Amino acid sequence: MEKRSSFSGKIGFIMAAAGSAVGLGNIWRFPYLAAQYGGGIFLLVYIVLAVTFGFALMTAEIAIGRKTGLSAVEAYGKLHKKWKFLGYLAAIVPIIILPYYSVIGGWVAKYMWAFMSGDAADTAGNIVTSAGAEVSYFESFIAGVGEPIGWFALFLGFTAVVVLFGVEKGIEKVSKIMMPVLIVLSVLIAGYALCMDGAMEGLKYYIVPNFSHFSVKTVLAAMGQLFYSMSLAMGIMITYGSYMKKKDSIESSVRHIEIFDTGIAFLAGLMIIPAIFAVGDPETQLTKGPGLMFIVLPKVFEAMPAGEIVGAAFFVMVLFAALTSSISLMETIVSLFMDKFKMGRKTACVVVIGICILLGLPSSLGNGPLASVKIMGLAFLDFFDFISNSVLMPIVALFTCIFVGYVIKTKTVVDEVEIHNCKFKSKGLFTIVIKYFAPICIVLILATSIVDIIYTLTTGSSWL
Ligand code: PHE
Repeated sequence: MEKRSSFSGKIGFIMAAAGSAVGLGNIWRFPYLAAQYGGGIFLLVYIVLAVTFGFALMTAEIAIGRKTGLSAVEAYGKLHKKWKFLGYLAAIVPIIILPYYSVIGGWVAKYMWAFMSGDAADTAGNIVTSAGAEVSYFESFIAGVGEPIGWFALFLGFTAVVVLFGVEKGIEKVSKIMMPVLIVLSVLIAGYALCMDGAMEGLKYYIVPNFSHFSVKTVLAAMGQLFYSMSLAMGIMITYGSYMKKKDSIESSVRHIEIFDTGIAFLAGLMIIPAIFAVGDPETQLTKGPGLMFIVLPKVFEAMPAGEIVGAAFFVMVLFAALTSSISLMETIVSLFMDKFKMGRKTACVVVIGICILLGLPSSLGNGPLASVKIMGLAFLDFFDFISNSVLMPIVALFTCIFVGYVIKTKTVVDEVEIHNCKFKSKGLFTIVIKYFAPICIVLILATSIVDIIYTLTTGSSWL
């Protein structure tokens, strides 16, 4: 077998995995979920899940990858013939995510352009439609046809060019500079937002858990977000693990990636949630969903000195973070198609682009001309997001726990982590989470939400 090239040292591995992990999930998705699902209580549940589920699953995936030296589909099959299906199941997730990820990536590109071309002030205001109604700049933008589709195509096209010509290395180099800049800018913006009138109320909402806001939906949303944000339950960390050197510590790498990923998500929440209380009416905006960042941040930049420049720089960084993630998503699908269907890179890319257009177009149009079309009460984009994060990923995670806990046994992973006398400090926690805590929680949450879906479909309202 051809020898796999490996990352140059632990830092190289952490940076590459963090490049995949840190993306729109942290900056766009985390804040709107935290806002919607009770603020502090969501944050608390998320952190508890991150140090238990997140830690155990990421360790297991990276260890499986490094042990086998293979990507997900092959890795599960190699460890146990009958478990190859899990690799395929995991591979469906990025195929569902990438199309709508590119739609949101397009929105970021559009905002970056608006800020760069001097239209920053417009993005914070309202627009009067031809029918005479007043809507926010964001709502008027996403309700369009040509513009959002154009930006979606641009984002997708750029991702494809990078994957097609295999120039990920160049992008990774640039993102090594971009990532620290993103952090510095986020601290600056969050600091400014926190000083705005009324922001303290929002800060309280974001960091102080209010247990009366707790519901099963909070846990389901936090769990899906955890998988999404850390690129878990879709085979990606297995691939990254397959490139990791035997002498590097898996445990400490996982800790670093987790802290990095959660830190950036927390910062994004700090930029956006307190600001909701300062610039708008929290009543309606807390539940704004996917548009939250695009509605609130322009208002913060409008109030901020040199906000136009800070805003432009911010959207450039976010775009880069989104691109490193979309590239990692597309690369995963392309290499799977190349291996499985014996396609050349070019053909595989073309097929993947085709799938993305097919699934991405309805996600984009679902905010405009197709707004009345709902699947299970959800617009296309929300539907794809729901299927991947709240259904498929928990199922893949559940199977992964059963596989590691009861088929290959936790010892297989523990031995891989402890290779070269590396001590696995959280061995006990890992074993308990994989064998009992995670599977039981996932089954309970999935069962509750399935009952809820059936209830909602029959009665028209949720019981959770
Ligand atoms: N983790 C990325 C994010 O937070 C999304 C992603 C998922 C990227 C899976 C690659 C693979 O945006």
